[in-house]
Amino acid sequence: MNTGDSIIARPAALADAIPIYTLIRQHQDELIVRPMSDVIMNIDRFHVCEDGGRIVACAAWQILPEVGDPSKASVEIQSVAVCASCRRQHIGTRLVRAVLARVEAFAPTQAIVLTFAPEFFRTLGFHEVPKTSLMHKIYMGCINCTKYSNPFTCPEIAMALDLHGPRTRAAVSAAAPAPEVRES
Ligand SMILES: CC(C)(COP(=O)(O)OP(=O)(O)OC[C@H]1O[C@@H](n2cnc3c(N)ncnc32)[C@H](O)[C@@H]1OP(=O)(O)O)[C@@H](O)C(=O)NCCC(=O)NCCS
Repeated sequence: MNTGDSIIARPAALADAIPIYTLIRQHQDELIVRPMSDVIMNIDRFHVCEDGGRIVACAAWQILPEVGDPSKASVEIQSVAVCASCRRQHIGTRLVRAVLARVEAFAPTQAIVLTFAPEFFRTLGFHEVPKTSLMHKIYMGCINCTKYSNPFTCPEIAMALDLHGPRTRAAVSAAAPAPEVRES
């Protein structure tokens, strides 16, 4: 088992595109597969964890506008994957926190996610919300989904984290024990 002390969390670079693409494809039951061109065009929105030169985890984000009120945009957490042999070492936690720290400068209203891993996101302070509260996501993403015909019956669980509340920073930084992952 990996002890975690050799793992580095960092923003992705173009050289990471193939391992990111591969990692996402390896989790097609849980994630929306992304074409290589999509990974490359959005490489600046990915973070990765690297262990001795091997990419073992990735996470990404995208801003979702709120129609009519630019100040109320959300950020969606996407493509969170940790390779099977590196799970439960708080690598996923570190990556999602890194993404939340990255987007903090934009001051989005909330972070959202559609996921099959609600227990994991709950430890980061996310709570379940009705999909009808995420209509921007439904119209920007789910409407073009190739996996499920109806976003309201799709089995993914919608969750949100309020990023304006005073509890947010504490929740994001203290919800899980500090992982043994170095930041580059
Ligand atoms: C979900 C996933 C990203 C979690 O990554 P991870 O690095 O193993 O998660 P962490 O170690 O940071 O977990 C933090 C906490 O979340 C909870 N958690 C994580 N995975 C869990 C699981 N499978 N079942 C229940 N709780 C879980 C635990 O409370 C854990 O803390 P603990 O290990 O001290 O008990 C990883 O399992 C994965 O890649 N799954 C496949 C892809 C996927 O479902 N991605 C999410 C969709 S966006």
